[in-house]
Amino acid sequence: MEFKELYKKYNVTNLKIKHMQDVAKLCIFINKMLDLEVNEELLTQSALLHDIGSAYYRGIPINDLNDFDKMWGHQVKTLEWLKREGLVSVAETASRHNCFGINNEESKEWGYKKGINLLPKSNESKILAFADSIRAKYIEENDFITIIHKDARELLKKHKMVVIAEERKKKLFQFLKKHGLDINKTIKYAKELENLE
Ligand SMILES: [Fe+2]
Ligand SMILES: [Fe+2]
Repeated sequence: MEFKELYKKYNVTNLKIKHMQDVAKLCIFINKMLDLEVNEELLTQSALLHDIGSAYYRGIPINDLNDFDKMWGHQVKTLEWLKREGLVSVAETASRHNCFGINNEESKEWGYKKGINLLPKSNESKILAFADSIRAKYIEENDFITIIHKDARELLKKHKMVVIAEERKKKLFQFLKKHGLDINKTIKYAKELENLE
C-alpha cells in the first residue's frame, strides 16, 4: 500500500519517503527470517509511515525544541496524526519505533507529555524499531547495542539513561536473534539500501 495522499497532506519530503520505504523493505526482509507471529501488512504500513511526524518539526530551529521533543517528538506526532487519520493500529505500531525509547513512568517523572510510552511492544514494532536503528556506522563497527549518535547519547547521559537504553537495545536484539534473525544476512541486505539514516 502506498500513502501518496498522506505524504502530500503532511508535506513529507521525498528523502523521508525514501527512508521509510527502505525501512519497510528491511522490515519485510527481516520478518521472513523470523518465526514470530507478525501481521505483515500492519508492519509494512507502519514502516511506511513511521517518521511522518518528523514533518511537523521541519523548519523549527533545533534550539527551540526541548530535549524530549528533539528525541521523541516526531514519534508523538506520528501517533497523533495517524490516529487522527483513523489508522489506529498503524499509529500505535509506527510511533513505537525507538528501541531505547521512553516509557510511561519516565515520561511522567520528567514531565514530558504527562506519561507516554514509545517503547516497542508488539512484534511489528520490535521489528520496525530494530530495522530503523540500523545505520552505516553500526554496520561498520558491527555493534548494534552502543548508542553512538552524539546528541542522543548526551541527552541520555543527562537523564542517567545510557545504561538502561543500551540494555533495552540489547534485549531487543537478543529477542530477534532468538527468533531467527540472521545479522549477517541483514547487514548484507541493509548495505544495498540507501536511506537507512
Ligand atoms: Fe524516527
Ligand atoms: Fe526512521
